[in-house]
Amino acid sequence: MKNYQNVTVFDHPLITHKLSILRDVNTGAKQFRELVNEIAMLMGYEVMRDLPMEEVEVTTPLAVAKVKVLAGKKLALVPILRAGLGMLDGVLSLVPSAKIGHIGLYRDHDTLEPKEYYCKLPEDIAQRQVILLDPMLATGGSGSAAINFIKARGCNNIKFVSILAAPEGVERLAQDHPDVQIYTGCVDEKLNEIGYIVPGLGDAGDRLFGTK
Ligand code: PRP
Ligand code: URA
Repeated sequence: MKNYQNVTVFDHPLITHKLSILRDVNTGAKQFRELVNEIAMLMGYEVMRDLPMEEVEVTTPLAVAKVKVLAGKKLALVPILRAGLGMLDGVLSLVPSAKIGHIGLYRDHDTLEPKEYYCKLPEDIAQRQVILLDPMLATGGSGSAAINFIKARGCNNIKFVSILAAPEGVERLAQDHPDVQIYTGCVDEKLNEIGYIVPGLGDAGDRLFGTK
């Protein structure tokens, strides 16, 4: 894979450790859900490291101090249904007043093309920093389509956070949306013939919700 500037691969030991357990076929749905939630929280912490700050005055018991607080940058968290839902609470725990949008997409099993079934975004999304959540960036079709929906509402400030990516998905997003920074826990080796990330972790939605 080429070295794309728009990908940040997390190398934090906690994320890497939790991702390794997530990959294990013997990890059950309960632990899988907990780990996805924890990884998303740790990733969110890093993804928001460039949030703007402003200086305000606060009166401590001893004096008036000039301190920094978040500049009130408006955020929107947008999970791609279903599997992105597993990442929502972890990130939301860091920024509880963020608005939340939902984009429903599933991959057609034969064509691997994303099919839209739901899209509800905050009305003022054009003014917000969007953090798009989906654990899996495989062909990149779903991520690219979700970004199109958000951009169609006038928002051009988007970060895409995935737990695992395939080189093909990274390349697709770099081509379709070079302005979108991708964050991921690992860029795996490849996609297999049915569009699964290898070695990957299997079907994230099914493992999160115990549907298989
Ligand atoms: C998975 C995953 C992504 C998509 C990635 O969802 O959560 O949304 O596949 O694949 P792509 O990059 O090739 O588009 P899936 O379609 O299985 O739906 P689900 O979340 O409802 O299980
Ligand atoms: N979606 C998943 O859930 N897993 C993959 O490996 C690819 C797409």
